[in-house]
Amino acid sequence: MPVARRARVRHALPVIDYRTTLEGIEPAQVEGFFDGWPMAPSADALLRVLQTSTFTVLACEDDRVVGFVNALSDGVLAVYIPLLEVRAAFRGQGIGTELVQHVLRHFAGTYMVDAVCDAAIAPFYERLGMIRLVGMAHRNRGATILQPAR
Ligand SMILES: CC(C)(COP(=O)(O)OP(=O)(O)OC[C@H]1O[C@@H](n2cnc3c(N)ncnc32)[C@H](O)[C@@H]1OP(=O)(O)O)[C@@H](O)C(=O)NCCC(=O)NCCS
Repeated sequence: MPVARRARVRHALPVIDYRTTLEGIEPAQVEGFFDGWPMAPSADALLRVLQTSTFTVLACEDDRVVGFVNALSDGVLAVYIPLLEVRAAFRGQGIGTELVQHVLRHFAGTYMVDAVCDAAIAPFYERLGMIRLVGMAHRNRGATILQPAR
């Protein structure tokens, strides 16, 4: 009697390319980020943020932006990473790591590269060699750039 064999289906990891230019990127391609934010910038606003940042890296699967990081720098001493996000369906595949490593490589000669995060995310940054410090932040919850999340 033939032995039934269960086919082993392997889901290939998506091919991600990392881009440091926003040329040709439309707001629709950055729709749906700010996962979990009750109030969030629109896709238009996010695209403007990414365009005006000192350095931005997009993780793309074909033309879809599946993750991004941006960095602001004074060009002398300090770099700040305000936003880092990978779409939920693409997490756990090393994309977030690769995005932050791009920033660290780009600013390798700079003294400070800082990010403010929740305690739960700290281990992610520690794996990349970053250290825990106390951060202080001012937030304007009424800022007009924020809209109810869709
Ligand atoms: C944080 C985030 C960017 C990580 O992206 P990712 O592509 O899933 O990260 P990676 O696949 O490179 O993960 C690398 C490692 O970090 C760990 N890690 C990922 N997200 C983590 C989290 N939220 N908390 C703790 N560890 C985390 C993973 O377990 C993995 O470790 P492993 O290789 O030992 O399993 C992603 O979870 C995300 O977009 N979260 C929502 C937005 C957010 O919190 N951004 C950070 C703002 S400061």
